[in-house]
Amino acid sequence: MTFQRSLVTTALPYANGPVHIGHLAGVYVPADIYVRYLRLKGQPVLFIGGSDEHGVPVTIRARKEGITTQQVVDRYHNLIKRSFEEFGISFDVYSRTTSDIHHKFASDYFRKLYDNGKFIEQVSEQFYDPETQEFLTDRNIRGECPRCHAQGAYGDQCEKCGATLSPDELINPYNAVNGNPLTKKETKHWYLPLDQYQQWLEQWILEEHKEWRPNVYGQCKSWLDGGLKPRAVTRDLDWGIPVPVEGAEGKVLYVWFDAPIGYISNTKEVCDANPDKFGKWETWWKDQSTRLIHFIGKDNIVFHCIVFPAMLKADGSYILPDNVPSNEFLNLEGDKISTSRNWAVWLNEYLDDFPGKQDVLRYVLTANAPETKDNDFTWSDFQARNNNELVAIYGNFVNRALVLTGKYFGGKVPERGELTDYDHEILDEFGNIKTKLEDLLEGFHFREAQKEAMNLARIGNKYLADMEPWKLIKTDEARTATILNLSLQIAANLAIAFEPFLPFSSKKLRGMLGMPEVNWEHLGSTNLLPVGQPLGEVSLLFEKIEDAAIQAQLDRLARIKKENEEKQKEEELRNWRPAPVKEATNIDEFDKTDIRVATVLDCQPVKKSDRLLQFTLDDGMGGRTILSGIAQSYPDPSVLIGKQVLFIANFPPRKMMGIESQGMILSAVDADGKLVVTTVSDTVKNGSQVG
Ligand code: 2FM
Ligand code: ZN
Repeated sequence: MTFQRSLVTTALPYANGPVHIGHLAGVYVPADIYVRYLRLKGQPVLFIGGSDEHGVPVTIRARKEGITTQQVVDRYHNLIKRSFEEFGISFDVYSRTTSDIHHKFASDYFRKLYDNGKFIEQVSEQFYDPETQEFLTDRNIRGECPRCHAQGAYGDQCEKCGATLSPDELINPYNAVNGNPLTKKETKHWYLPLDQYQQWLEQWILEEHKEWRPNVYGQCKSWLDGGLKPRAVTRDLDWGIPVPVEGAEGKVLYVWFDAPIGYISNTKEVCDANPDKFGKWETWWKDQSTRLIHFIGKDNIVFHCIVFPAMLKADGSYILPDNVPSNEFLNLEGDKISTSRNWAVWLNEYLDDFPGKQDVLRYVLTANAPETKDNDFTWSDFQARNNNELVAIYGNFVNRALVLTGKYFGGKVPERGELTDYDHEILDEFGNIKTKLEDLLEGFHFREAQKEAMNLARIGNKYLADMEPWKLIKTDEARTATILNLSLQIAANLAIAFEPFLPFSSKKLRGMLGMPEVNWEHLGSTNLLPVGQPLGEVSLLFEKIEDAAIQAQLDRLARIKKENEEKQKEEELRNWRPAPVKEATNIDEFDKTDIRVATVLDCQPVKKSDRLLQFTLDDGMGGRTILSGIAQSYPDPSVLIGKQVLFIANFPPRKMMGIESQGMILSAVDADGKLVVTTVSDTVKNGSQVG
C-alpha cells in the first residue's frame, strides 16, 4: 500500500495539571520531529493534538483546589496549549474534549454502535458510598495495599509499591474524598465485548504488524495471550459526556471511550474550519491511502492498540493505525515523574528559568529519549549535553565558520578552489546524511537520527580544527577561502538536518547564513550557499549553562522531596485504620501467656545494634534481662528508667548479639510505626500478673 497522506495523533494529555518533560520526551517531541520531517519532504500531513478534559483525574484536581471541574480544565487546557506552542510542537489543531463538536461526535459514535448492537449490557456490583449516594471510580477508592500493606493505595494502583490493583483487592476500602466506608450496589453499564475481537486483533497485530516496536508488540501480545474480556465503556459519574440512551441518567461515557474519538472530532474541527487547506475530515479517517500514526506513552498502549482499534472496527468505516510508536517512561533524577507529587520539570517553569532555551530541552530529551527502555533525566546530563555537545560542537563549529568568514572575507561566502583529498574525505563522510536520516526517521529512531545530525557538526568541527584556517590565512588566502566555503556549506546542511529536531536554532542559523528556505532534498549538497552571498548578523547559537543554574534546580527538587516525605507521613497518619481483629481465641489460649509487671532499673542501647535496647528489670522474682527491638522509637532510652512495664515472662530465653533475652516487653504500635511500651496506670508490686 502506498500511502498518500499521514495523520499523526498525539495522546491527549489530561487537563489536570501542566505538562512536563515526561510528556515532551515520550510523545510530543518525537511526534513533532516526525511531522516536521514529513512537511519538509513536502508530504501531506495533519498533526492532531488536544486536551483530555474528562475522567476522574480532573475532578480530583478540582476537589483538591476547591474550584469547579470546568475551571480546572479551562486553566490547564490553556496552560498546556501555550506550553506546546512555546516548545514549537507544531500541531495543526489543539482542541479539547469539552468542545461541542467533540461531545456531539462522541455521543453519536456511541449511539451508532449502540443501535447496531455492538455493546452488551451488564449489571454488576460496584463500590458505593451510602452517605453521598454515589458510585466510586477506581481512583476515588483508597485502602490498604494487599501487597505491601501501605495505607492509602488507590483502587487501580498502589503508588508505594507500583502494584496494579482492582478496588476489590484493597483491604478496608474507603471513599478517598471523605473517608466513608463503602458498600456494594448493583449498577448497569455498557460493555464493548473485546473477546469478540480477540481473533481479529491477533491476526491484525501479531501477524500483520510484526514491525511495531518490540515494547508495543510485546504488550499487545501479553494482553492477547491473557484473553480479552468485555470492557465497560460507561461510568457512574457526573462529569463527562452523558450516555445517549434512555434510562442512563447519571451515567457518562468512560473517558477512555471518548478521548480517542477526540482525534477524529479534532480532525473534523480543523478540516471544517479550513476546507481549502485540509479537505474533508473523512479523507483523513476513512480513506485507505491515509497512514494513521499514534504517538503515545507506554501506559496508553492497550487503549490505542486494542480498545480503540476495536471501537473503529465496531463502527466499520474507519482506517486503523499503521503504527503506534510508543515510548517507555522518562524518570526524573531516579524517581518516577508524578503530577500529584509535583515530581517533574514543568514546561512553563522551565521556560521561566531557561528563557529561549526550548531547543536545549528538545535536544536533551531526544538524546536521552526512552525509546526502548525507561530513561532518567538528570540536571547534570542536561548541563553536560548543552555545554559539551550543543555549545562545544555544534555552536562552536558554526560560530567559528561564521566569525572567520566575517573576519577574512567581509562576511560573504568565499570562493572555493580545487578540493584536496582530505576535503573529499570529509565530504564523503556526510554525503549519505540524507538517506541515513530518512531511514532512521521513518523507522521512528529519533535518538539515533539526532545523533547523526550531531555527527555532521562533529565532522565540521574536526575539519576546522585540522585545517586551522586562522593560521593558514597568513600564508594561503585561497586555500583558507576553500576551507571556509566548505565549512559554511556544512553549516547550511546542519540547518536542514536539525530543522525537525531544533527548529528554533535552525531558523536562527539560517538567518545567519542568509538562507531563507529549507529544502530537505538539498541535504548532503555542498552547493547550498552561492559564492558571494552575504551572511547575516552573527550571534551565538547556544550558550553555556553555569553550575549555579543547575544547582538551583537540584535545590528545588530536594525541597520537593522533603515536602513529599512530610506529606506522605501526614497522609499515612490520616488514613490509618486499626488492623483487623485477629481470629477468635479463648481465655484458655490467652491464659497460656504469662504477662507480668516489672520496673525498669536500667535501659541501654545494645552495642553494634541500631534496633535493640537492653532492659534490666526488677521483676519481683530476682530480676531479669530482656532485649527489645524498639531503639528507633526511644533515641534516649533513659526516659524509661523507673517506669513499670508489662512483659511476657514465659517465653523461652533467646540469645541476640551475644546477650540472653528472658522474655518480651509489650509495646503498642502507633500509626506512624513508633513503638510505645505499655505500662500500668497505678504502681503495683513487681511480678504482678496481668490477665
Ligand atoms: O494518559 C493520558 O494522559 C490520557 N489522557 C491519554 C488519552 S490519549 C487519547 F486517547 F486521547
Ligand atoms: Zn503496595
